[in-house]
Amino acid sequence: MKFFIDTANLDQIREAQNMGILDGVTTNPSLMAKEKITGRNNILKHYVDICNIVDGDVSAEVIATDFEGMVKEGEELAELHDQIVVKIPMIKEGVKAIKYFTDHGIRTNCTLVFSAGQALLAAKAGATYVSPFIGRLDDISTDGLELIADIRLIYDNFGFETQILAASIRHTMHIVNCAKIGADVITGPLSSIEGLLKHPLTDSGLKQFLADHKRGN
Ligand code: G3P
Repeated sequence: MKFFIDTANLDQIREAQNMGILDGVTTNPSLMAKEKITGRNNILKHYVDICNIVDGDVSAEVIATDFEGMVKEGEELAELHDQIVVKIPMIKEGVKAIKYFTDHGIRTNCTLVFSAGQALLAAKAGATYVSPFIGRLDDISTDGLELIADIRLIYDNFGFETQILAASIRHTMHIVNCAKIGADVITGPLSSIEGLLKHPLTDSGLKQFLADHKRGN
């Protein structure tokens, strides 16, 4: 399973990269705004900065919502760096744009996916990744993990190669459960990834080992 970090914060991206477990980065307009990255040129430069930190795929989202606009923006984003994956919203024009990019060899990440039907359409259009938002489904008392399981079943039934990128991860158990279900990728904040490290028995065990070593010497 690949680990992506869901942020536009360069320090956090470096931190995850330095752990040696990072496979890519996802961003969205809200995450860019959180880092106060504004203006088209600054945004494009920021994507290149991210690509220069990580080895893997970097999702860069289009702002346009019409087919022509998405194609124009997506082509500009894809030209920035070969690690860029164009992130397209799950709307009718978006499905058309994903198909266009598939036919032109440009990789895509279909975002804002909240149902198995939407994931089926994204795969039919040839999306490289599909991003179901599990945390936001949990927020409205719907089981986000059940959606990941449904998409896994559907994609396996027909051999769709679109990778399931579980997004809107909020905590470590989302990651563990996505791994059990068979999501291809998770993307979450640094805290959710670092949370996997934690176990009190590791801490107390290490403390004891170090104390015993000191006494033995
Ligand atoms: O990048 C998309 C997704 O991961 C957003 O997560 O926490 O805003 O629901 P969140």
